[in-house]
Amino acid sequence: MRVTMIGAGYVGLVSGACFADFGHHVTCVDKDAGRIAALRRGEIPIFEPGLVDLVATNIQQGRLEFSVEASGIGDADAVFIAVDTPSRRGDGHADLSYIYGAVREIAPLLSPTAIVITKSTVPVGTGDEIERILREERPDAETQVVSNPEFLREGAAIYDFKHPDRIVIGSDDERARAVLAEVYRPLYLNAAPILYVNRRTAEVIKYAANAFLATKITFINEIDDLCECVGPDVQDVARGMGFDNCIGAKFLHAGPGFGGSCLPKDTTALLKTAHDHGAQLRIVETVAAVNEQRKRAMPRKVVAALVGSIRGKTVAVLGLSFKPNTDDMRDSPSIPLITALHDLGATVRGYDPAAMEQAKPYLPDVIYCGYEAAEGADAVVIATEWEQFRALDLDRLRCLMVRPVIVDLRNIYRADEMKRANFRYLTVGRPAAERYAETAMPRRRKTPNAKTIAALAEAL
Ligand code: UDX
Ligand code: UDX
Repeated sequence: MRVTMIGAGYVGLVSGACFADFGHHVTCVDKDAGRIAALRRGEIPIFEPGLVDLVATNIQQGRLEFSVEASGIGDADAVFIAVDTPSRRGDGHADLSYIYGAVREIAPLLSPTAIVITKSTVPVGTGDEIERILREERPDAETQVVSNPEFLREGAAIYDFKHPDRIVIGSDDERARAVLAEVYRPLYLNAAPILYVNRRTAEVIKYAANAFLATKITFINEIDDLCECVGPDVQDVARGMGFDNCIGAKFLHAGPGFGGSCLPKDTTALLKTAHDHGAQLRIVETVAAVNEQRKRAMPRKVVAALVGSIRGKTVAVLGLSFKPNTDDMRDSPSIPLITALHDLGATVRGYDPAAMEQAKPYLPDVIYCGYEAAEGADAVVIATEWEQFRALDLDRLRCLMVRPVIVDLRNIYRADEMKRANFRYLTVGRPAAERYAETAMPRRRKTPNAKTIAALAEAL
């Protein structure tokens, strides 16, 4: 099959490369000429495990191409739209201008029998509007418009694409369904469930699924608040809940609030759609509000760990991206955290294994460092649970810092090991006695001299 992907961002590039890997001939089209030039040189503009090799192999085997022009689209059997749908300034509605712009641009170029498929996350009814535009621009064509939402987690997107929990195909048209079945054939043969529904249903499934994930995370974050007051470890509570098959263990990790390119904007857009139609989604409204409060509460943990004012103190933040294995900074909880720390008068040193460059426009006042971010710090905050941060050499870390204080917003250490290593350790969702491995404010050490720092940084 010949497939065109409009938009070579996170979703378009991963989906395009995976379709090519299935054996289809794929052209990824993107307006960003710099991005296309880089892709043609084999440079991948985003951090996604496995993507460099997947793209290189498929370019080499002649199945994957990149273009700024949609002119070659006339041969395509299936045209996917994967441009971004950010939150519209002011009202939070999904901004559909890129979608409709792309549709108007491709309309005159499409083969009369092409199937146009929306992969971007779009509010219910967007497919109807795309169909209206295509009928207006191309009265001669029999183009069918399908909704086929993506369910890819950044950092695990290739795995998710090739091992989907389900594939949702939103169309009542038999020919369109047959084309999509052919596009996804390798997965279909592996018995991945394909759910055929109508277009509006597919559009709603995507938002409802993301809103539910956001709800699940927010639920455990509130249970976490309770655990901090009444004693249990939230991780034990989550485990006890998660063994119940009706609940499931995933998305029950308490943390600094959900972020990323999807959950925040999709919950907001779903609420806007509901308001526009006079429906009430009170649970989702509460989820969005609680998550905002949650993100704002995180700097208070740092203040508490340093017992009072943090003015003039240095805080090292490990992990800037919204979750591990991605360089995506969109709506990362590290942004409100660091902004508040700056407002409170702290100096912030930051390190991320992949997102340093992406972080700079969002957080220009951070001092960007390597592993030596902890050098001279009064506190280290673990904001993202990258594997690299799970086995820090605590003795060396303590020597680099001027105060042995760690605020772990992802609960990746055990309180007893931190206690043994003489750290004051504050986490989320654990009882106060454990959160404070030491009750007194740890004494400030002298800043280590340059020679010690260099030796320790190297050893780390
Ligand atoms: C996607 C979806 O489209 C979005 O709706 C969903 O909620 C999350 O996933 P994403 O792939 O993350 O968005 O966006 P991004 O990485 O910003 O990529 C979008 C690409 O489309 C960019 O490379 C951009 O240059 C390109 N684009 C945008 C076009 O080619 N044409 C346009 O008109 C607009
Ligand atoms: C999400 C959905 O998971 C995916 O199905 C959809 O298609 C796109 O949106 P993504 O945004 O890549 O994927 O990240 P996800 O893994 O869902 O994490 C979102 C946010 O929630 C992150 O900030 C993460 O740290 C947080 N999270 C996730 C928690 O705090 N606890 C959890 O248990 C899970």
